[in-house]
Amino acid sequence: MAVNNAMTADFLRSAYGGESMAHMRYLIWGDSAEKDGYPNIGKLFRAVAYAEWAHAKNHFNVLKEQVGDNTVVAGAVFGHTNIIENLQGAIDGELHEVKQMYPVYLETARYQEEKDAQRSFNYALEAEKVHAKIFEFAQDTAKQGKDLDIATMYVCPICGYTEIGDNVEKCPICGASRDVFKAFE
Ligand SMILES: [Fe+2]
Ligand SMILES: [Fe+2]
Repeated sequence: MAVNNAMTADFLRSAYGGESMAHMRYLIWGDSAEKDGYPNIGKLFRAVAYAEWAHAKNHFNVLKEQVGDNTVVAGAVFGHTNIIENLQGAIDGELHEVKQMYPVYLETARYQEEKDAQRSFNYALEAEKVHAKIFEFAQDTAKQGKDLDIATMYVCPICGYTEIGDNVEKCPICGASRDVFKAFE
Protein backbone atom coordinates (compact mmCIF):
# COMPACT_ATOMS: atom_id res chain seq x y z
CA MET A 1 0.00 0.00 0.00
CA ALA A 2 1.19 3.46 -0.77
CA VAL A 3 0.27 7.09 -1.25
CA ASN A 4 1.93 9.52 -3.66
CA ASN A 5 0.19 12.88 -3.26
CA ALA A 6 0.55 15.27 -0.32
CA MET A 7 -3.13 16.20 -0.10
CA THR A 8 -4.33 12.62 0.07
CA ALA A 9 -1.56 11.84 2.60
CA ASP A 10 -2.73 14.76 4.79
CA PHE A 11 -6.30 13.50 4.64
CA LEU A 12 -5.17 9.98 5.58
CA ARG A 13 -3.31 11.36 8.60
CA SER A 14 -6.27 13.45 9.68
CA ALA A 15 -8.64 10.50 9.24
CA TYR A 16 -6.23 8.31 11.22
CA GLY A 17 -6.32 10.91 14.01
CA GLY A 18 -10.10 11.18 13.94
CA GLU A 19 -10.61 7.41 14.00
CA SER A 20 -8.06 6.97 16.79
CA MET A 21 -9.90 9.48 18.94
CA ALA A 22 -13.30 7.97 18.10
CA HIS A 23 -11.94 4.58 19.18
CA MET A 24 -10.91 5.97 22.58
CA ARG A 25 -14.06 8.04 23.05
CA TYR A 26 -16.30 5.01 22.44
CA LEU A 27 -14.39 2.92 24.98
CA ILE A 28 -14.86 5.69 27.56
CA TRP A 29 -18.56 6.15 26.77
CA GLY A 30 -18.99 2.36 26.69
CA ASP A 31 -17.65 2.04 30.25
CA SER A 32 -20.09 4.73 31.36
CA ALA A 33 -23.03 3.03 29.65
CA GLU A 34 -22.22 -0.19 31.44
CA LYS A 35 -21.89 1.53 34.83
CA ASP A 36 -25.19 3.35 34.25
CA GLY A 37 -27.06 0.06 33.71
CA TYR A 38 -26.96 -0.19 29.89
CA PRO A 39 -24.60 -3.15 29.31
CA ASN A 40 -25.72 -3.74 25.74
CA ILE A 41 -25.21 -0.11 24.75
CA GLY A 42 -21.79 -0.54 26.40
CA LYS A 43 -21.23 -3.53 24.15
CA LEU A 44 -22.32 -1.50 21.12
CA PHE A 45 -19.76 1.20 21.98
CA ARG A 46 -17.01 -1.43 22.35
CA ALA A 47 -17.90 -3.06 19.03
CA VAL A 48 -17.94 0.26 17.19
CA ALA A 49 -14.67 1.24 18.90
CA TYR A 50 -13.17 -1.86 17.31
CA ALA A 51 -14.52 -0.81 13.91
CA GLU A 52 -12.86 2.61 14.30
CA TRP A 53 -9.61 0.81 15.12
CA ALA A 54 -9.96 -1.04 11.79
CA HIS A 55 -10.36 2.30 9.98
CA ALA A 56 -7.37 3.86 11.78
CA LYS A 57 -5.28 0.78 10.97
CA ASN A 58 -6.21 0.94 7.28
CA HIS A 59 -5.38 4.64 6.97
CA PHE A 60 -2.11 4.14 8.89
CA ASN A 61 -1.06 1.28 6.63
CA VAL A 62 -1.67 3.25 3.44
CA LEU A 63 0.86 5.72 4.94
CA LYS A 64 3.33 3.04 5.97
CA GLU A 65 6.16 4.27 3.73
CA GLN A 66 5.78 7.90 4.89
CA VAL A 67 8.21 7.55 7.78
CA GLY A 68 8.56 10.46 10.20
CA ASP A 69 6.72 12.77 12.58
CA ASN A 70 3.66 14.79 11.66
CA THR A 71 1.34 17.05 13.55
CA VAL A 72 -2.14 15.65 13.08
CA VAL A 73 -5.16 17.91 13.06
CA ALA A 74 -8.46 16.07 13.24
CA GLY A 75 -12.00 16.77 14.33
CA ALA A 76 -13.14 15.23 17.59
CA VAL A 77 -16.31 15.30 19.66
CA PHE A 78 -15.84 16.23 23.32
CA GLY A 79 -18.11 15.74 26.32
CA HIS A 80 -18.79 13.00 28.84
CA THR A 81 -22.10 13.64 30.51
CA ASN A 82 -24.95 11.13 30.27
CA ILE A 83 -25.87 8.29 27.95
CA ILE A 84 -28.29 10.32 25.81
CA GLU A 85 -25.75 13.10 25.24
CA ASN A 86 -22.90 10.64 24.70
CA LEU A 87 -24.97 8.86 22.05
CA GLN A 88 -25.77 12.25 20.47
CA GLY A 89 -22.03 12.91 20.29
CA ALA A 90 -21.58 9.54 18.61
CA ILE A 91 -24.36 10.28 16.09
CA ASP A 92 -22.95 13.75 15.35
CA GLY A 93 -19.44 12.37 14.86
CA GLU A 94 -20.60 9.59 12.55
CA LEU A 95 -22.79 11.95 10.48
CA HIS A 96 -19.91 14.41 10.12
CA GLU A 97 -17.83 11.59 8.66
CA VAL A 98 -20.66 10.41 6.40
CA LYS A 99 -21.78 13.81 5.10
CA GLN A 100 -18.63 15.94 5.15
CA MET A 101 -15.33 14.28 5.78
CA TYR A 102 -15.18 11.00 3.91
CA PRO A 103 -17.03 12.10 0.74
CA VAL A 104 -14.49 14.94 0.34
CA TYR A 105 -11.49 12.76 1.21
CA LEU A 106 -12.68 10.04 -1.16
CA GLU A 107 -13.22 12.51 -4.01
CA THR A 108 -9.70 13.86 -3.50
CA ALA A 109 -8.23 10.35 -3.56
CA ARG A 110 -10.15 9.67 -6.80
CA TYR A 111 -8.91 12.91 -8.38
CA GLN A 112 -5.35 12.03 -7.37
CA GLU A 113 -5.73 8.40 -8.52
CA GLU A 114 -4.79 7.07 -5.08
CA LYS A 115 -6.24 3.56 -5.19
CA ASP A 116 -5.24 2.44 -1.70
CA ALA A 117 -6.54 5.62 -0.09
CA GLN A 118 -9.79 5.28 -2.05
CA ARG A 119 -10.32 1.80 -0.64
CA SER A 120 -9.50 2.90 2.91
CA PHE A 121 -11.78 5.98 2.76
CA ASN A 122 -14.58 4.03 1.09
CA TYR A 123 -14.54 1.27 3.72
CA ALA A 124 -14.77 3.89 6.46
CA LEU A 125 -17.51 5.91 4.70
CA GLU A 126 -19.72 2.85 4.23
CA ALA A 127 -19.17 1.54 7.76
CA GLU A 128 -19.89 4.95 9.34
CA LYS A 129 -23.29 5.04 7.61
CA VAL A 130 -24.17 1.85 9.48
CA HIS A 131 -22.76 3.23 12.75
CA ALA A 132 -24.89 6.38 12.52
CA LYS A 133 -28.06 4.28 12.14
CA ILE A 134 -27.17 1.92 15.00
CA PHE A 135 -26.38 4.81 17.35
CA GLU A 136 -29.67 6.52 16.44
CA PHE A 137 -31.50 3.28 17.24
CA ALA A 138 -29.62 2.98 20.54
CA GLN A 139 -30.44 6.57 21.48
CA ASP A 140 -34.17 6.05 20.77
CA THR A 141 -34.06 3.05 23.10
CA ALA A 142 -32.09 4.85 25.82
CA LYS A 143 -34.56 7.76 25.72
CA GLN A 144 -37.21 5.26 26.86
CA GLY A 145 -34.92 4.32 29.76
CA LYS A 146 -34.24 0.92 28.21
CA ASP A 147 -31.10 -0.92 27.20
CA LEU A 148 -30.77 -2.44 23.73
CA ASP A 149 -32.27 -5.91 23.43
CA ILE A 150 -29.41 -7.44 21.44
CA ALA A 151 -27.42 -10.63 21.50
CA THR A 152 -24.06 -10.69 19.78
CA MET A 153 -22.61 -7.86 17.71
CA TYR A 154 -20.13 -8.54 14.91
CA VAL A 155 -17.51 -6.34 13.29
CA CYS A 156 -15.55 -6.96 10.10
CA PRO A 157 -11.88 -6.36 10.99
CA ILE A 158 -11.07 -5.45 7.38
CA CYS A 159 -13.55 -2.63 6.74
CA GLY A 160 -15.30 -2.02 10.07
CA TYR A 161 -18.77 -3.16 8.93
CA THR A 162 -20.86 -3.62 12.08
CA GLU A 163 -24.01 -5.65 12.61
CA ILE A 164 -26.37 -6.56 15.41
CA GLY A 165 -26.85 -10.33 15.29
CA ASP A 166 -25.94 -12.76 12.54
CA ASN A 167 -27.47 -11.41 9.29
CA VAL A 168 -25.05 -11.69 6.37
CA GLU A 169 -22.94 -14.50 4.93
CA LYS A 170 -20.22 -12.17 3.82
CA CYS A 171 -19.33 -8.58 4.47
CA PRO A 172 -21.55 -6.30 2.35
CA ILE A 173 -18.81 -3.66 2.22
CA CYS A 174 -15.54 -5.53 1.57
CA GLY A 175 -16.74 -9.03 0.69
CA ALA A 176 -14.85 -10.84 3.48
CA SER A 177 -16.31 -14.08 4.81
CA ARG A 178 -18.10 -13.65 8.12
CA ASP A 179 -15.70 -16.23 9.55
CA VAL A 180 -13.27 -13.36 10.10
CA PHE A 181 -15.82 -11.15 11.91
CA LYS A 182 -15.00 -10.36 15.53
CA ALA A 183 -17.85 -11.16 17.92
CA PHE A 184 -18.86 -9.00 20.88
CA GLU A 185 -20.90 -11.20 23.22
FE1 LIG B 1 -17.97 4.91 13.09
FE1 LIG C 1 -15.70 -5.95 5.60
